[in-house]
Amino acid sequence: MHLENAYADFLTRYPTYSRTSALDTLRATEYRRLDDQRQAYLDYTGGSLYAESQLRKHMELLRKGVFGNPHSVNPASAATTEHVERTRRSVLRYFNASPDDYIAIFTLNATGALKLVGESYPFAPGGRYLLSFDNHNSVNGIREFARAKGAAFDYAPLVAPHLRLDRSKLDSLLDLADPMQDNLFAYPAQSNFSGVKHPLELVSQAQSKGWDVLLDAAAFVPTSRLDLAAVQPDFVTVSFYKMFGYPTGVGALLVRRPALAKLKRPWFAGGTVNFVSVQARAHELAPNEAAFEDGTLNYLSIPAVEIGLGHLEAIGLETINERVRCLTGWLLEELVALRHSNARPMVRVYGPVTTDSRGGTVTLNFYDPEGHLLDYRRVEELALNEGISFRTGCFCNPGAGEIAEGLTREEIQEAIDEGPGVTLQSFQRLLRHRGHKSAGSIRVSFGLATNFADAHRFREFAATFRDQSRHAIGEVTFDIDACRHTRDGS
Ligand SMILES: Cc1ncc(COP(=O)(O)O)c(C=O)c1O
Repeated sequence: MHLENAYADFLTRYPTYSRTSALDTLRATEYRRLDDQRQAYLDYTGGSLYAESQLRKHMELLRKGVFGNPHSVNPASAATTEHVERTRRSVLRYFNASPDDYIAIFTLNATGALKLVGESYPFAPGGRYLLSFDNHNSVNGIREFARAKGAAFDYAPLVAPHLRLDRSKLDSLLDLADPMQDNLFAYPAQSNFSGVKHPLELVSQAQSKGWDVLLDAAAFVPTSRLDLAAVQPDFVTVSFYKMFGYPTGVGALLVRRPALAKLKRPWFAGGTVNFVSVQARAHELAPNEAAFEDGTLNYLSIPAVEIGLGHLEAIGLETINERVRCLTGWLLEELVALRHSNARPMVRVYGPVTTDSRGGTVTLNFYDPEGHLLDYRRVEELALNEGISFRTGCFCNPGAGEIAEGLTREEIQEAIDEGPGVTLQSFQRLLRHRGHKSAGSIRVSFGLATNFADAHRFREFAATFRDQSRHAIGEVTFDIDACRHTRDGS
């Protein structure tokens, strides 16, 4: 359907979208580079886009200020410290976290925040680490700290096809905690694979059973409000570029004060200590966030976080949320309805196909009229020629992908047993050889600058696969190993 007609039809199906028109104005001003370059950017779960005014305000600040290394008291240092501390307060305020309840630690990204928890949490024999199948690898990786320190770890399963947590299995796993030990439960507020919003009520439920809770909010907070007065996880992790595109290289770990007392840093570094003696082989860690911020912070970028938070506040999270909800609902309906001439579905969506308790991340694969999987890498390549950016692969979330595709432990083990050096690509080849399962997929995600035309462009692109066989779409010319692309073998 032509864009204008499709838009009119969309508005009758999602009338509340018109309440978000302020974002169309912003798209035409702050994000006009997208339309100037005819780009359809659909990877907001990978990273959001910045508004031009964020850059202007940040450059203005840098141009006017004299900012030195913050570890000192000279005026240039004091100016830096003032901006860093101001930004820290703005982060707490943004999440409605009282400074009496939480501290905010600046990190490089969400991964840096997760690693701080992993390496400092007092895992020990008798204690446990419980995590959902649906998790980013930076949360999965914490299991290696648990394992090294002798704590047990378990995965809470998801149920296909909607990819929500199996609540009764989760309840039983939560019951395994000995409240006298240190137990950590980690899950994402929103899946970076399926867009599922996992219930925030799990936080207090797990806490009441003797767990500290790590809520990975990286994929949730770009389009939803997290209110830490209402929900109080012990640890919260975010990356700011996922919320407002700029700056990269700054994330945060929010820690609830009672949990802070449990964390034991495995080392000290410049900036984290009040006292170190070489002769006495002694050190005294600094209190609070200072003990966790190794070396010199990214002090010139940190003030841009306050600017970015202000940008989100000015738009209103509710407006962003509603816009993304409408576009996601429409795209899901359209994709599910796509059929080949022989009436077979063209698309398989992983996860919920309605907007109920889900965000704007839609993960899918295309199938040909015979039901054969189309190579997602070739689909990405074809999209590239159309100026459409989306993500393909496993999105660093293997657990959700394994359940979505019904991959068995035996199939995965077979790939591992082929010898050292297994990659997503070699696993994908093995699966293709054995049948039609996929170890990867296509992820389309919406964010604050998305408009209907972007969603429509993806829908029209998807429709081009009607009646196309897997051979007809051609062969991929690049390879992806370990989530990194190489082209022509380079
Ligand atoms: C849910 C979730 N957690 C953690 C991360 C890690 O974020 P970063 O790569 O910024 O450290 C991501 C990134 O995609 C994510 O989506």
